[in-house]
Amino acid sequence: MSRKALILEELGLNPVWVRTAMLPELQIAVATSPAVPAIAPAAIARPQGLSPVAVAAHQALAPLVSTPKFTSLPVSPPANDPAEDERSKRIANMNWEELRNAVSSCTACPLCQNRQKNNEQTVFGTGPMQANIMVLGEAPDEDEEAQQTPFLGEAGRLLDNMLAAINEDKLVYKANILKCRTPNKRNPQAAEAEQCAPFLKRQIELLQPKSLFVVGRFALKTLLESDEPVSVLRERLHHYKQIPLIVSYNPSYLLRNLPDKSRAWRDLLRLKAALHSPLP
Ligand code: URA
Repeated sequence: MSRKALILEELGLNPVWVRTAMLPELQIAVATSPAVPAIAPAAIARPQGLSPVAVAAHQALAPLVSTPKFTSLPVSPPANDPAEDERSKRIANMNWEELRNAVSSCTACPLCQNRQKNNEQTVFGTGPMQANIMVLGEAPDEDEEAQQTPFLGEAGRLLDNMLAAINEDKLVYKANILKCRTPNKRNPQAAEAEQCAPFLKRQIELLQPKSLFVVGRFALKTLLESDEPVSVLRERLHHYKQIPLIVSYNPSYLLRNLPDKSRAWRDLLRLKAALHSPLP
């Protein structure tokens, strides 16, 4: 069995070309939405020069991606604290090195006390500066802190395999909304995410990835400022400052919730489609 077939099997998709079988299901979903006209698969032009996975993504998602059903969520106005505004403004003008230094010496939230007490480091992010995809997770764990690399271990392997399944595992920059690890792997708290958000926003602005793949509810809250669950937000294509943004499940969650792996596969197809938009 090929590597791709193994990966798809791991995602709960067997045989490989089950994605073609997804089409009727997606067509039904599209047809039942009054705002979105159904388009027969045959009517969608086959994009030139793309791999079978990319073509499948286009065919499956063309009717969805190109319709107004996929919209950005409204963003709430920024908090009106002059000191916070000042800090955000300073961060918004930093270059990459300044940003990296500011992150590593940050003391804006109580997580820094843990970090300093245990002689730990921040985890800024890893990957090429010319990234097709920027993956945004929640926070590093102990190993990831020690190696200053997000998405290691089993969850990281699953993420890499998922991206490899859509042939998009090379130009990937990985980062988290929190740059410090949380004690005992607890979830990020709102105040921590709020303090780290200006760093993340500047990181995105400097990196200018072609797409954002936001995994997990804590990560999406920072960028979309929404309390809706992943299961709802993953159904739409969003934009952050005009960069296509796809929401999906965190790979750590997927390891514990196997049935959602096949939903994550659909999100990957959305990601692939968004990367190759505008659609033909
Ligand atoms: N590892 C990370 O770095 N981030 C996550 O969200 C999950 C695992």
